[in-house]
Amino acid sequence: MNKSTNTVWHSATITRAHREQLNVHRSVVLWFTGLSGSGKSTLAHAVEDELYQRSCRTFVLDGDNVRQGLCSDLGFSVQDRSENIRRISEAAKLLVESGVIAMTAFISPFRSDRQRARSIFPHGDFIEIFCEASLNVCEQRDVKGLYRRARSGEVKEFTGISSPYEAPANPELAVRTGELPLEDCVAQVIEYLRQRNVFR
Ligand code: PPS
Repeated sequence: MNKSTNTVWHSATITRAHREQLNVHRSVVLWFTGLSGSGKSTLAHAVEDELYQRSCRTFVLDGDNVRQGLCSDLGFSVQDRSENIRRISEAAKLLVESGVIAMTAFISPFRSDRQRARSIFPHGDFIEIFCEASLNVCEQRDVKGLYRRARSGEVKEFTGISSPYEAPANPELAVRTGELPLEDCVAQVIEYLRQRNVFR
């Protein structure tokens, strides 16, 4: 519910279009989604490295990091995850307005939350990237030891174990992060951005 009544939108004289003119790319959001351990952050940061080499302005919003600040009051219930994704999408929107290529690396397990995130961006600016790795692969990796703790019941409401993950039905891009080497995954994302004329 919007409690911020009696506010008036202030339009800036310097617009997103002006800011984008200073860049070698247009601004978009790359919305990485996938299970814990599917490689969202790894891929987002590797894509950022590649974009930096190409003189692009970028910023990665990363699940674990954002949950230590902006979203430190939120847990992992359905409602809290929903609010988490709402805040991230608004933060990403500000970054896109600033002319940056924003990347978000959140499980974002619910289609309705991702759909709502998509809906606040102009058509074509929201690029959903499914980091496709099976639960089996993610659980085998168990980089943070959270799957083991979720299986034992110590960690509650864990995505894929005791909380659902709704895979995207129609993402802009699906990258098989569970099977392919990182360089191939990065190349797939960059090629997609090239096809979509993100680079000038
Ligand atoms: S969500 O669902 O989008 O709001 O989650 P997100 O903000 O991406 O946070 C996921 C990271 O939090 C850690 N963690 C958990 N994940 C899922 N379920 C539960 N219960 C949980 N508890 C802690 C975990 O490190 C996730 O990081 P990634 O990078 O996805 O492994």
